Amino acid sequence: MGEAKQPILRTSHCFVIEPACLQAVFDGGILAASDARAYNDPLSHGKAAMKRIADERVLVLDFGSQYAQLIARRVREQQVYCEIVRHDVRAERIRELAPMGIILSGGPSSVYEPGAPKCDPDLFRLGVPVLGICYGMQLACEALGGRVENTPAREYGRAQCRVVAENELLAGLSGQIQVWMSHGDQVAQVSDDFLPLAATRTCPFAAVRHRELPIYGLQFHPEVTHTPAGATILGNFLATVCRCSRLWKLGDFARQTIEELRARVGEDRVICGLSGGVDSAVVAALLSQAIGPQLSCILVDNGLLRKGEAASVIEEFTNHFRADLHVVQAQEKFLAALAGVVDPQEKRRRIGHAFIECFSDEAARIEGARFLAQGTLYPDVIESGGLVDGPAATIKLHHNVGGLPDDLDFELIEPLRDLFKDEVRRLGLQLGLPEEIVWRHPFPGPGLAVRLVGEVTKERLVTLREADAIVVEEIKAAGLYRKTSQAFAVLLPVQSVGVMGDARTYQDVVAVRSIDSEDFMTADWSHLPHELLAAISTRIINEVAGVNRVVYDVSSKPPATIEWE
Ligand code: XMP
Repeated sequence: MGEAKQPILRTSHCFVIEPACLQAVFDGGILAASDARAYNDPLSHGKAAMKRIADERVLVLDFGSQYAQLIARRVREQQVYCEIVRHDVRAERIRELAPMGIILSGGPSSVYEPGAPKCDPDLFRLGVPVLGICYGMQLACEALGGRVENTPAREYGRAQCRVVAENELLAGLSGQIQVWMSHGDQVAQVSDDFLPLAATRTCPFAAVRHRELPIYGLQFHPEVTHTPAGATILGNFLATVCRCSRLWKLGDFARQTIEELRARVGEDRVICGLSGGVDSAVVAALLSQAIGPQLSCILVDNGLLRKGEAASVIEEFTNHFRADLHVVQAQEKFLAALAGVVDPQEKRRRIGHAFIECFSDEAARIEGARFLAQGTLYPDVIESGGLVDGPAATIKLHHNVGGLPDDLDFELIEPLRDLFKDEVRRLGLQLGLPEEIVWRHPFPGPGLAVRLVGEVTKERLVTLREADAIVVEEIKAAGLYRKTSQAFAVLLPVQSVGVMGDARTYQDVVAVRSIDSEDFMTADWSHLPHELLAAISTRIINEVAGVNRVVYDVSSKPPATIEWE
């Protein structure tokens, strides 16, 4: 990490540390490019005298695949550190980064189309092992004398693949294996330098290797779970071909990060905002272990949190971590700010401002604070587009929640910026955080306010909070909480007619939303069992005063969004 003082992100809110909130942080390219560069240069990671476990790395060149991040996560599951870089990173730069291996991702283009993304062909001569996946394989084969064609026998979905030659990439596999294909193009012909390793009925080169160079290609996707042998294949590539020694262990990461944090912070004080979510909790847990009493946590209780959320964070950070915890009781302030507002963006704006005010007022009371800790994760870093070697920023829905005052002047500490969400969760467990916090579904910064369509009032918040708690309790009781990605209740600004006992009622409608998603950019509604939906509905109608109807949201994203506002 650079030693220069880091300017705080200038606009947009950046204290609430849920991953989704961080989308807001990067809204509009807020991180000045030069700062980002100094901060993000992977080479600067290695500045410390100590060899970092991240120094043994594999690079994924991103050709626009929806699976690039998944490939990187799979590599890390094999305990090898992995970074995603732009597809056209120069071969000299790759040499500088000294990766143990290179993976060329898939992508939506056709290699023979004008303007199709290409890699620097010199990378094939670096002597670094290369694995091309789908488009990446086609690119490698084409660059080294083969021909790629559109095939009438497109393959999408499961396919049976026959291993035709013994080799180190497919070691441990023989006969037929099930693989996941998704391609319209395929390698029609390879140069004499290549050897076919596997084939399907319609794809003669489902896996190939170069005879002399350590270059391999897979037409199928080893990174998806529909290729059951995918982990074996990636493991073979990493261990046998790249000779990685599997240094990337979260326990070591924690130890190393704690040491680095101690060295960087010295005698100074760090402020860390707690949001109730896992990322901020893990940052605080790491810092608590690194610098103990020099850490001050701030929890702004805006009255828009889920049931029991503030209480569990307070319990954890006072009783377990014994942190210097400042709880700002700001329920009334937020209610006042939201009075009469129905427009979702206006709600966000006002919540953002109120939050910044509360946070900075409290921060100003903490003497000697020099650093501000944030739970920025690797996907946020990639998607900000601010990395020197990283892929370009992806277009992403942002949720801007207001602006930071310019006079807040802390140096940023972002100890999770190398990690994926699943790694953060595992790290949280290792650091002793309870499962309840570690596995909590993500929650938007503006909280229940954007799940309460229409005006936010104290009474409506009570209704929504109770209904939401029932949704979560029942999904947990059915053992489906970890299978679903986000499940919650929404209070609609609609009354409907009902009958309770002999009386006619005219009461609120609650919508239940549960989605399954890998990355929250796309999502499917969860196909929950009918009995579970029935239990949720019965309990909400019986237990939550003022609600007489429950509906289930069966919309996917796109075209709907996950939240209703
Ligand atoms: P949507 O509703 O856009 O949500 O499909 C995608 C993810 O972002 C979260 N989300 C927000 N997070 N501030 C946040 O910090 C917001 O204003 C906001 N709106 C949505 C949402 O919960 C989901 O995880």
